[in-house]
Amino acid sequence: MADERDEGGGLAPETRAITAGRASNQSALAPILWATTTFTYDTVDEGRRLATAAGTERFYTRYGNPTINAFEETIAELEGAEACRAFASGMGAISAVVLGLCSTGDHIVAQRQIYAGTQLLLQTMCPRFGIDVTFVDGTETGAFAAAIRPGKTMLVVAETPANPCLDLVDLDELGAIAGPMTMVDSTFATPLGQQPIAHGVDLVVHSATKAIAGHNDATIGVVSGTAELMSWLWNFAVLHGANASPFDALNAHRGVRTLGVRLARQSATAQRVAEFLEGHPSVTRVCYPGLASHPQHELATRQMSSMGGLITFDVDGGIEAGARFVEATRIALQAASLGGPETLVTHPGSTTHVGLTPEEQAATGIGPGTIRVSCGLEDPDDIVADLGQALDAAVG
Ligand SMILES: Cc1ncc(COP(=O)(O)O)c(C=O)c1O
Repeated sequence: MADERDEGGGLAPETRAITAGRASNQSALAPILWATTTFTYDTVDEGRRLATAAGTERFYTRYGNPTINAFEETIAELEGAEACRAFASGMGAISAVVLGLCSTGDHIVAQRQIYAGTQLLLQTMCPRFGIDVTFVDGTETGAFAAAIRPGKTMLVVAETPANPCLDLVDLDELGAIAGPMTMVDSTFATPLGQQPIAHGVDLVVHSATKAIAGHNDATIGVVSGTAELMSWLWNFAVLHGANASPFDALNAHRGVRTLGVRLARQSATAQRVAEFLEGHPSVTRVCYPGLASHPQHELATRQMSSMGGLITFDVDGGIEAGARFVEATRIALQAASLGGPETLVTHPGSTTHVGLTPEEQAATGIGPGTIRVSCGLEDPDDIVADLGQALDAAVG
C-alpha cells in the first residue's frame, strides 16, 4: 500500500496528526478555545492590515480565529498543502469552492457517483448562476478529460472513495489534468488514508464532521490547496460567511489527534465485516475497496494507505428486507453520518440520497436494498454478530 511517510521530515502521518498545529498553543497541551467574535487592535494601520491579510486570525472570527487556524494548520500539514480554510460544514466547504471559484458562463465537469448534497448543489444551484455542469462516470478512464471544454471548464469535481458505493477515481489521472482546477472530496479516505495533492490535485475537501472530528460533536468542513488558490478562496469565504465555529474547530482538532488509531481500527473492522458480508447468502453485493472482488481493488492499494471504515452492500429482498435489516440491528444505530465511534447503518435511498430520483440513485449504484455501514470502534466480534442477527431477522 502507499507509504506516505516521505512528507513532513520523515515523520509518519499518524505522528504529524499529533505534532501539527501547536504553534499558538503557548504552554497548553490541548488546543485553546478562543470563544470570541472579535479582537482588539491599537492603530488604524494595524486594523487595515488585519482586515486585508488572507488567513488573518485576530481581526474578526468570520475572517479567522486562533482556534480555527490551529486546526487548519494541522489539516494543511496532513494534506501536504500550503494552506487550509475551515468552513461551517462539508457543504460549506464544497459550495465555497464551486461558487467562489466559478462564474456565470463557466463549465464544471463532475463525477456522477458523488455525495447527494454535492450532486444537488451542482445540478440545481449551478444552473441558476449560469454555470453548466457535465456529469461523468468517475471510474471510467479518461472520462473527466474527455468532458473538458477548453477555455470554458473551470473546475473538475471528484469524490473518492465515493459516497455511498465506494467507487474510486484514479488520482494520478485526475492530477494530470491541465487547465481547469481539480477538486477531490476525500472524506471517506480521511487525510491519513490518501493524499490527493501528492498526485497533482489542486484542492482537497473533507466533511471534517465525519472521521476527522470523529465523535459526532462537530459540524465542520475543510478545503486545502496552494496558498494562491486558498487566498482567493479566503476572500470569497469572508463574504460567503460559512466560517467554522471555534468550538467545532476545537472538537475537530481534538479529534484529529486520534485519527490514526481510529482509522486503523475501523479499517481492520471494515475488512472483517466486508468479508463476513461477502460470504453471507442473503447479501447480493458488497462494495469495499479492501476486498479483492472490488473492481478497483488494485487502484485502491496503489493510492490509499488505509481502506477506511465504510462498507456498502445490498441485502436480498429489496426495500422491505433493507428496512427490516436497519431496524433489527441492536448495536449498530440508524443515523445519517459516518466516521464516529458508534457503528451506524443507513438506508441511503430513503435518507442521505433521498433527494435524487430513483433513476439518479441507480446511476450512482444505489438500489432499494442498499445499506451503508460505518464501522465504529466497538469490538469487531460484536459488530459482526449484530449484523449477522439483523440479516437473519431481515431475510431469514
Ligand atoms: C462525502 C461527503 N462529502 C460532503 C458531505 C457534506 O458534509 P457536511 O454534512 O459536513 O456538510 C458529506 C456528508 O455526508 C459526505 O458524505
